Amino acid sequence: MIRSVVLGAGAATPKHSVTNDQLAQKMETSDEWIVQRTGIEQRYIADSCETTASLGERAARLALKDCGLIPDDIDLIILATSTPNNTFPATSVEIQNRLGMKHGAAFDLQAVCTGFVFAMTTADTYIKSGQAKRILVIGAETFSRILDWQDRTTCVLFGDGAGAIILEAQECNGMMDDRGILTNHLRSDGSHKGKLYVDGGPSTTGTVGHLRMQGREVFKHAIGMIRDVVESAFEATGLDSDSIDWFIPHQANKRIIDASAKMLNIDSKKVVITVNQHGNTSSASIPLAIDVARKDGRLKKGDLVLIEAMGGGFTWGALIVRW
Ligand code: UT7
Repeated sequence: MIRSVVLGAGAATPKHSVTNDQLAQKMETSDEWIVQRTGIEQRYIADSCETTASLGERAARLALKDCGLIPDDIDLIILATSTPNNTFPATSVEIQNRLGMKHGAAFDLQAVCTGFVFAMTTADTYIKSGQAKRILVIGAETFSRILDWQDRTTCVLFGDGAGAIILEAQECNGMMDDRGILTNHLRSDGSHKGKLYVDGGPSTTGTVGHLRMQGREVFKHAIGMIRDVVESAFEATGLDSDSIDWFIPHQANKRIIDASAKMLNIDSKKVVITVNQHGNTSSASIPLAIDVARKDGRLKKGDLVLIEAMGGGFTWGALIVRW
C-alpha cells in the first residue's frame, strides 16, 4: 500500500522574541502568572516586514533543503493558517510564487490550532488517492496581528512562527512498522464557536477582528476531546501509549499537555514541550515542536510519534506517524 512518508522538515520564527517580563512592562500581568498558568516564558512576535507568507516561505525552504529537494519536486502545497496575508488569494499561492514554483497547486486550510493535523490528514488523503506524490505541508501564523493587546487574558498566550514538512508517496507493506502516517482522526463541533473565535471577518463586520476566548471553558473541553481522538488512533492501529516514542501535542498550555499525557498514561520523558519558547502559535506549534525535537536529537528516523491538537471551532484531531 501507499503511505505518506516524512522526507524533511523545517521551521522559522520571527527575529524578535518577547519575554513575559517585557509584556509586564506594558500591561498588568507578571512572569509568575504566565508561567504558572501556561508554562509560557517567551514568544516570537513578527515585525512589520514579517508575515505569514514570509515565515511560511522560510520554513518551506528549510524543509526542502533538509531533504535535498527543490520546489519543482513538489506537486502540492497545503498551508494551515488562520492569519493569511490577505483574505484572498490564498497565502499558500503566495508562498508557491515566492518559492518560484510554476507547476502544481496550492491551497490554504483553516482549522485554527488543529490546522496542522487537518493539513497532514488532507495531504495523506491526496497521496493515498494518487493525486499527488510530494506535498509540502506548512503551518504558519502571525497571531500577534489578531490579538487585542488591551486584553491580558488572551494577548500573553499567543506567538508567531511557521513550520513545514514534506510528505512523499512510498510503497509500504501495510503493517504498523511501516514508515509514514499510520492513522489519522479529525473531529469538529461548531456548537462551541463562541468559546474561541475572532470577532470580525469579510462577510460579517468587514474587518479583520480580534481573537476572543473563554479560556476556562476551552480548557474544560480540551482534555476530553484530546482523549477522544487519541483513543480512536490507538484503537485503529492497535498501538498504545507504551509503543509510542514521542508525544508531540499542540502547544497551547503546559497544564493541558501535562494533564493529557497523564490521562493517556504517556511517560513525561516522551512529551515534547516547546510552549515555553514559542507560546501558542496555533497551526505552527506542532511543526515548530517537531523542528526542536529533531534538532536536539530526540526525534529520529523510525520513531513512532503521536500528534494531537485541539482548538477553535471546536476542532480536534490526532495522528500517528512513524518518522
Ligand atoms: O490553542 C487553542 C486552545 N486554547 C487553549 O487551550 C487555552 C485554554 N485555556 C487556558 O489555557 C487557560 O484557561 C488560561 C491560561 C487562558 C487561563 O488560565 P486559568 O487558570 O483558566 O485562569 P482564569 O481565566 O480563570 O483567570 C484567573 C485569574 C483571573 O482573576 P480573578 O478573576 O480570579 O481575580 C484573571 O483576571 O487570572 C487573571 N488573569 C491574569 N492575571 C495576570 C487573566 N489573565 C491574566 C494575566 N496576568 N495575563
